[in-house]
Amino acid sequence: VGTETINTDIVTLTRFLTEEQAKHKEATGDFTLLCHALQFSFKSIAYFIRRATLINLTGLAGSSNTTGDDQKKLDIIGDDIFIAAMRSSGRVRVLVSEEQEKIISFDEHPDARYAVVCDPIDGSSNLDAGVSVGTIFGIFKLEEGATGTEADLLKPGTELVASGFTMYGASAMLVITMKGGSVNGFTLDNALGEFILSHPNMRCPQSRAIYSVNEGNSLYWEDPVKEYVNSLKYPTEGGKPYSARYIGSMVADAYRTLLYGGIFAYPADKKSAKGKLRILYECAPMALVFENAGGQAIDSHMRRMLEVVPEHIHDRSGIFLGSYNEVQKVIDIHKKYE
Ligand code: AHG
Ligand code: MN
Ligand code: MN
Ligand code: MN
Repeated sequence: VGTETINTDIVTLTRFLTEEQAKHKEATGDFTLLCHALQFSFKSIAYFIRRATLINLTGLAGSSNTTGDDQKKLDIIGDDIFIAAMRSSGRVRVLVSEEQEKIISFDEHPDARYAVVCDPIDGSSNLDAGVSVGTIFGIFKLEEGATGTEADLLKPGTELVASGFTMYGASAMLVITMKGGSVNGFTLDNALGEFILSHPNMRCPQSRAIYSVNEGNSLYWEDPVKEYVNSLKYPTEGGKPYSARYIGSMVADAYRTLLYGGIFAYPADKKSAKGKLRILYECAPMALVFENAGGQAIDSHMRRMLEVVPEHIHDRSGIFLGSYNEVQKVIDIHKKYE
């Protein structure tokens, strides 16, 4: 290998954040410090996940959370790591976690201006099977004078200042986007302990014949959803049927959809009238990533996902997200039922 192919101008997440901050003269540096605490929590969770089997961290914790999920030991550990990192950053006023029934207020930091929402371990039912899981996060800035009550958090995704996720797969991949910004992917270099910019300015392909949905729920789907999925499986104009890819971890299904294109769907249905995925820390953060990558994200009422306001911090929604043109097909079929 010639020296000209070795990249010696490495962009770490730390450098990327410094350069981002420099673009905003009014920046205080608080957001940058918050992101450093975030990246530490991803490195730390990645470490525990890789060793889970070795240190008896797989399996159930024996408890369940507010949304009725059985909690895995790693759900609890991931949550504890995340809470500690956000608290010690001194830049977070309030935190919502899938694993915590109530909001967590950091009263020791009354002047902190950020609210963070998170799903510490997404896809945890797959953990013991070694399937890729992840952490999903969103960052809101509190209004002036807001103290971070639950009501302060019932915001639409349009008010997110940043969001993203880390997928703990073959390597730890962090995908992050800022409001109105591009989507950037970073790969954790375990030797350096640094997230390295590996996927600058990620764009979701406009179309791709891949659909990702749990067909085990077909019995409960509403008619427009049934017609839509059948139109992919049994194309009438003689086109090729779509490929089915469903991992069962939203982070893994979303990452593949972002990279390859296609559509991911978890529709609301007759069994789950509001859908399964949680608005604040699953649907909205992912919707911001896909919109900023040129894709679309809508709910089961065909509303823009980023405009959906949660009624409580664990409120759920149906969701269709992915390639712009693929989501448009869902909208067009639903129009026939209006
Ligand atoms: P979590 O592990 O954070 O509770 O999320 C699980 C979610 C999401 O990761 C995935 O898309 C969905 O559950 C899969 O649900 P089904 O097993 O019902 O398909
Ligand atoms: Mn869960
Ligand atoms: Mn989840
Ligand atoms: Mn989770």
